[in-house]
Amino acid sequence: MLDESEKTYPPSDAFAGTAHIDKATYDEMYAASVNDTEGFWAEHGKRIDWIKPFTKVKDVNFDYGDVSIKWFEDGTLNVAANCIDRHLKDRGTQTAIIWEPDEDGEDAQHITYQQLHAHVCKFANVLKSMGVEKGDRVVIYLPMIPQAAYAMLACARIGAVHSIVFAGFSPDALANRIDDCRAKVVITSDGAPRGGRVTNLKDNVNQAINHAAEDPQVLVVKRTGQQIAWVDGRDHWLHEMEQDVSDQCEPEEIGAEDPLFILYTSGSTGKPKGVVHTSGGYLVYAAMTHQYTFDYHDGDIFWCTADVGWVTGHSYIVYGPLANGATTLMFEGVPTYPDAGRFWQVCEKHKVNQFYTAPTAIRALMGKGNEPVEKYDLSSLKVLGTVGEPINPEAWNWYNEVVGKERCPIVDTWWQTETGGHLLTPLPGATATKPGSATLPFFGVQPVVLEAESGKEIEETEAEGVLCLADSWPGQMRTVWGDHQRFMDTYFQQYKGYYFSGDGCRRDKDGYYWITGRVDDVINVSGHRMGTAEVESALVAHAKVAEAAVVGYPHEIKGQGIYAYVTLMGGVEPSDALRKELSDWVRHEIGPIAKPDLIQWAPGLPKTRSGKIMRRILRKIAENDPDSLGDTSTLAEPQVVDDLIENRMNRG
Ligand code: WT7
Repeated sequence: MLDESEKTYPPSDAFAGTAHIDKATYDEMYAASVNDTEGFWAEHGKRIDWIKPFTKVKDVNFDYGDVSIKWFEDGTLNVAANCIDRHLKDRGTQTAIIWEPDEDGEDAQHITYQQLHAHVCKFANVLKSMGVEKGDRVVIYLPMIPQAAYAMLACARIGAVHSIVFAGFSPDALANRIDDCRAKVVITSDGAPRGGRVTNLKDNVNQAINHAAEDPQVLVVKRTGQQIAWVDGRDHWLHEMEQDVSDQCEPEEIGAEDPLFILYTSGSTGKPKGVVHTSGGYLVYAAMTHQYTFDYHDGDIFWCTADVGWVTGHSYIVYGPLANGATTLMFEGVPTYPDAGRFWQVCEKHKVNQFYTAPTAIRALMGKGNEPVEKYDLSSLKVLGTVGEPINPEAWNWYNEVVGKERCPIVDTWWQTETGGHLLTPLPGATATKPGSATLPFFGVQPVVLEAESGKEIEETEAEGVLCLADSWPGQMRTVWGDHQRFMDTYFQQYKGYYFSGDGCRRDKDGYYWITGRVDDVINVSGHRMGTAEVESALVAHAKVAEAAVVGYPHEIKGQGIYAYVTLMGGVEPSDALRKELSDWVRHEIGPIAKPDLIQWAPGLPKTRSGKIMRRILRKIAENDPDSLGDTSTLAEPQVVDDLIENRMNRG
C-alpha cells in the first residue's frame, strides 16, 4: 500500500495566483507574526472597526497561578455593528444569510444585510424590554434558523453574553447550563424540525426550568406552529414582542475584553466547562481565519455545515463570515435527508464556493457511493474544509476526488472550542497538503511538541508527543465562567508556561503536524466532544448500575464510538432489554450524542491496588486488541481482565 502521508498536493499555480496568501506571503507573514507578535497584531487588529482604537495590543501571562490573557484591552467596539452596520453602505442589499430549511420543498430565505440589521435591532429591543442588560446571560436553545443568528447578534449589540446550548441536548443538560451561567432569559422555539422529525424544544425548556434553580423568562420563536405548553407571565412569543419595538437599536460600546459568549464543552473530569470568549480578539481572529483559511473573496457563498450550538457555528457561520461581509449559508437539516445527496443538492442550488464539514459526515456519505454526488453540478466549489477530528486518508481522497474533482484544495483545520478559531491549517493558495495532516500553524500561532512524561520541549523537527502552544493568539479563551482556577488547572498546570491542548501529535520531517487524538479522557464522537466521566456519571445515576467505566473505540463512521463497561447492582440480571434501558437512560440524561454504542456487562473492573480504574486496559479490550494490554502487574484482581476479554463486544 502506498504511504499516503508521503503524498503531497501543492496548490495549483492558477489557484495560488488569485489567492489572498501564496507560499511566499505565508512564509513572510508567519515569520513576522512570531518575530514581532505585537506589531503583527497591532496591524491586523485594524481589520475590524473600533469605537475607541486600542493602544495596548497584548498582555498575556501563561504562568500557572497567575494566568491572564488580554488582547487589545483598552479598545472598545461593538461586535454586531462589525457584523452588520459597517456593511450597510456598500452591501446593504447583498445577501448576508441564506437559510436552507430542513424540508427541501420549503422555500429558502435570502436575508440581506439591511434586513439583518432590522431583525437584529428588533430582537435586541425585545431583549431590552425583557430587562436584559449589558453583562446579563442569555441562553439560546434553537434549531438552525435565522433567528439563532439574530439572537446571537442581538445579544452582542446590547452587550449581553449569549450561551448557546445545542438543541440536541437534554432538558437536564440545559438546566445545568442555565444554572451555571445564571441565565436571565432562555430563547427557544416551539419545535425543531431536523431530518424530517420534529423535536419539541419548548417542552424541553419547560422541563429544564422545572429542574433548574434559576427562573429565567422564556422567549419563543414560532417555527412549526405546533401546540406547546405555556406559562403565562414567564413565556413570550418573539413575534408578538416584536410588534411593539423599533427596528433601530444603537449598538452599545463594549470593551475588547468584555465577554461575548460562553460555550459549554466537555473535559476529562467533572461537569462541562463554560468556555469564555471575549469581544475584540475573538472577532479579529474569527474574521481573519475565515478569510485566509477558506480564501474567501467578496461575493463568494460560504457554507459551514456545523450547528451554531458548537464553536464551529459561532466562528464560521456567524461571526467570522459576517464580520467579513460574506454571504453565509445556514442549513437546518442533516446530510442524509431526504437522501444522501442533500449537501450536494444545496451546493448546486446556492452555488456554494467554500464548503466546510466534518470527517464523520464525509465518511457517512462516502458509504453511500458516488452517485448522490455525481448527480449535482458542483462546479461552483473552490475550497473544501474539514474539522472536528483527524480525517483518515481514505475519506480525504474521496472528498478530494469525488466532491472536489481534484480541483479544490482541502483545508484540514485543527482547533478547539477553547481556541476560538483555526490554529493549525493549510492556507489553500500557500500550503501543499498531505491527506490526514492539519499541516502548519496559522499566523501568530506557536505550536510546540512536548514529551508527555517529562514535559520537555522536543526541538527536533521530527517529534511525537503532546501538543501545546507557547504563546497566546487573539481568539484564545480567557477563562472558565465563574472558575478561573479550573481554567488554570485544566490548561496551564501540567506543562508549565504553555497552553496544553489535550491532544497528542506527531511533527514530520517537513514540520507538518498530524493530530493523533486526545491524550486525556475525552472522546470524539462524530466530531462532538464527550467527557467519558460525564457518560459514567449518567450511567451510575441509574438505580440498577453499581459502577461504570467508559472509553472510546475506533468506529468506522463516527471516528470514535462509546464503549461502556457496566457493573450491575447485586441481584440485577443482565439482559438486552436492560442494555437498551441504559442506552435510553444516557440519551435522556445527556442527549442522543452520548448514547453508548456498546455496553459490556462487567462483573468487575480492572483496578490498581489503590482503586484506580486502569483505563488503558479497558481501551485495549474495547479496541479488540487484547493481546497488547501492556503491564498488568499492578492489577488488584488480574482475573477480572480475563472475563472482560472473554466477553468483549467489539470483535469486528
Ligand atoms: C477537539 C476539539 C474546533 C471545532 C470542532 C471541535 C479534535 C478538531 C481536528 C482536526 C484532528 C481535530 C481535537 C480537538 N479536532 N479538529 N482537524 N484534526 N483533530 O471542537 O469540540 O472543542 O473539540 O477536536 O481532538 O482537541 P471541540
